[in-house]
Amino acid sequence: MLPAAVRKEYTIAVLPGDGIGPEVTAVALRVLRAVAKAHNFGLVLIEYAVGGEALDRYDEPLPKETLRACKAADAVLLGAIGGPRWDHETGARRCETALLGLRKSLDVYANLRPVQVFEGLADRSPLGMDRVSGADILLVRELTGGIYFGTPRGQKAVGGLRTGTNTMTYREDEVARIARTAFTWARRRRSRVTSVDKANVLEVSQLWRTVVAEVHAAEFPELALDHLYVDNAAMQLILRPRAFDVILTGNLFGDILSDLAATLPGSLGLLPSASVGASVGLFEPVHGSAPDLAGQGRANPMGAVLSAAMMLESLGEGVAAQRIRNGVAACLQEGVATADLGGTASTSTVGEAIIAFTAGLTTAKSQ
Ligand code: IPM
Ligand code: MG
Repeated sequence: MLPAAVRKEYTIAVLPGDGIGPEVTAVALRVLRAVAKAHNFGLVLIEYAVGGEALDRYDEPLPKETLRACKAADAVLLGAIGGPRWDHETGARRCETALLGLRKSLDVYANLRPVQVFEGLADRSPLGMDRVSGADILLVRELTGGIYFGTPRGQKAVGGLRTGTNTMTYREDEVARIARTAFTWARRRRSRVTSVDKANVLEVSQLWRTVVAEVHAAEFPELALDHLYVDNAAMQLILRPRAFDVILTGNLFGDILSDLAATLPGSLGLLPSASVGASVGLFEPVHGSAPDLAGQGRANPMGAVLSAAMMLESLGEGVAAQRIRNGVAACLQEGVATADLGGTASTSTVGEAIIAFTAGLTTAKSQ
């Protein structure tokens, strides 16, 4: 018998990268293959080099072939980039440049970082169960502008003294489009946006605040909007995490607040992210390459697996994405977890458990 034709086929550029990236990506790919089969869609998963690995093999952290493949794909799934072996590199040879170049080239200006405290895991948070249980935040970080990309930048001698410069700059259209992303997500969630800036000091933040308020008044007046200074937001995030729904912020503040928010579920290893905006989305766990853990089979693959779920969601495979999320939740409920969450399971054991729970849920649903 001929195999049944798949409903749809997606081409995914897979960039495992460095450190624990390849280990957690391998698990995400296994989970993806399992749900694709169960939900009758096809996945063409092709791996490309990026970061330190690409520097070693091709002498550049973002090879042209990798970038071409990413642009031509339906989505990009990335593991992690960088490590101590390449830390001495400078300028365009730094691994981080590859990630920033990829974000800019794909024009993925909206970085979505959901932070949820899973049932049964609240006791993992250093902040204590009472404070974090039930917290459910979507951090919307502007990703292709701000101080990460502003010019002038660089180091030079000024009056005989070495001087470093970066520029935080936002144009009104950049603020308006990321504000729309945040408001649109808030509509699907609990209808509240908290915009985070430093408008008491920075002109760029004053413009940010004005434009966010204008977009709100003109297009989303039914939603609640408040504004916080970033220093206060950091404190409130820890003191009252349940008060937040969608947090809207710029590139640098979003980078900092997303690591801070990881203290809520208790491990950075759980957090996924989606970077979207133009046609091709970039999906990656928040945790980074964690070189001290690499190669030991101890890394938590859940951030990568949940990033793969966000990828399926954005491709229109929402049911399959939900299956994956349910599988991860079931896994956590049963205590199948890596050491960062207090468990003893290996990376691949967690992967197998997620697949088993995902398959079980599929069977239960289809009976
Ligand atoms: C992140 C990371 C990156 C960033 C680094 C690796 C360039 O910290 O995705 O949060 O600063 O954006
Ligand atoms: Mg970061």
